[in-house]
Amino acid sequence: MSNFSFRLVANCSQTQARAGVFSTPHGIVETPRFMPVGTLANVKTVTPAQLEDTGAQMILSNTYHLHLQPGEKIVAGGGGLHKFMAWNGPMLTDSGGFQVFSLSEMRKITEEGVVFRSPHDGQMIKLTPEKSIEIQNILGADVIMAFDECPPYPATYQEVTAATDRTYRWLERCIMSHQRLDQALFPIVQGGVYLDLRTRAATDLAKLDMPGYAIGGVSVGEPPELMAQIVRTTAPLLPRNKPRYLMGVGTYREMVIAIAAGVDLFDCVIPTRWARHGTAMVQGERWNLKNAKFREDFAPIDETCHCYTCSNFSRAYVSHLVRSQEILAYTLLSIHNITELIRFTQAIRESILQNRFLTDFGHWMNDPEKDLE
Ligand code: GUN
Ligand code: ZN
Repeated sequence: MSNFSFRLVANCSQTQARAGVFSTPHGIVETPRFMPVGTLANVKTVTPAQLEDTGAQMILSNTYHLHLQPGEKIVAGGGGLHKFMAWNGPMLTDSGGFQVFSLSEMRKITEEGVVFRSPHDGQMIKLTPEKSIEIQNILGADVIMAFDECPPYPATYQEVTAATDRTYRWLERCIMSHQRLDQALFPIVQGGVYLDLRTRAATDLAKLDMPGYAIGGVSVGEPPELMAQIVRTTAPLLPRNKPRYLMGVGTYREMVIAIAAGVDLFDCVIPTRWARHGTAMVQGERWNLKNAKFREDFAPIDETCHCYTCSNFSRAYVSHLVRSQEILAYTLLSIHNITELIRFTQAIRESILQNRFLTDFGHWMNDPEKDLE
């Protein structure tokens, strides 16, 4: 019997939206759902117990960061990623390729893999499909990602074709070296903004019997309308009965558009990143808690939110902590912002179960004002 299953429990009659249950060795993920990011084996400023209270089911971490520090051997010494960071729920690790491209200098891409300079000690480090899978096997997350090449935006048709084809060849090497049956390997659809390349990549990957599928290479600077087109073209080509994950997305509107196209899983750093800038996410708006109007505002950040922060503290208090640069400010705002995005995807799930998705959330798709970035 497989360690993984994905069961569809409802399908929207007007869009491709669906509600499902993804089962992993560390528990279930009710989809659609937002996944908080825990890059360095922690969701910044939030403890696992607090994270559980936000409604988080699955969280992610990063091969690139953990390989650089503390190194996968230490994580293994600590009993694997789950035990090391004391998160007992489902986890996913990204493969590292994307982070090499976006974060490191002096990188060189060849058919073999990527060589780059460690930002910590200047050492040259090589990541290949085999190495990424080996590291992810050692880390031990439930879902691991194929090592891919995400072309920049903009890039020429030829460049993106080369990256997309290489991503497929790298996937074959990932599949060959993947050792653990208790980890699900997800391939990643690339293809940039070229819909024919997206179509070919998605069709090729769909022929492989993988436990789930990701769409990558979006939110890299392309206009929002292009991202919507990419997702609407790609998602429906992936197997219906497998979870679909849109990497690095997103905001409220982006998630609604993607869910309508049949996407199930999301991740994004914005709730925790904005928290560290003193920003609260409130029903589609961004509030800067440093604003003078919050100084004597004793209401909770969001009256309708049942998170730990909104249940116990006022805007005035959080505003005071932000102004004083107290670390607790970032914890309280992270708890609220993560809860807010998870609650948003949970509400969407409920609406799909009641076949009210378009009625309840359709307006998010048409309003560019709702783009928060
Ligand atoms: N995170 C956001 N986008 C991507 C992508 O295209 N590939 C990988 N591996 N991770 C991502
Ligand atoms: Zn709250």
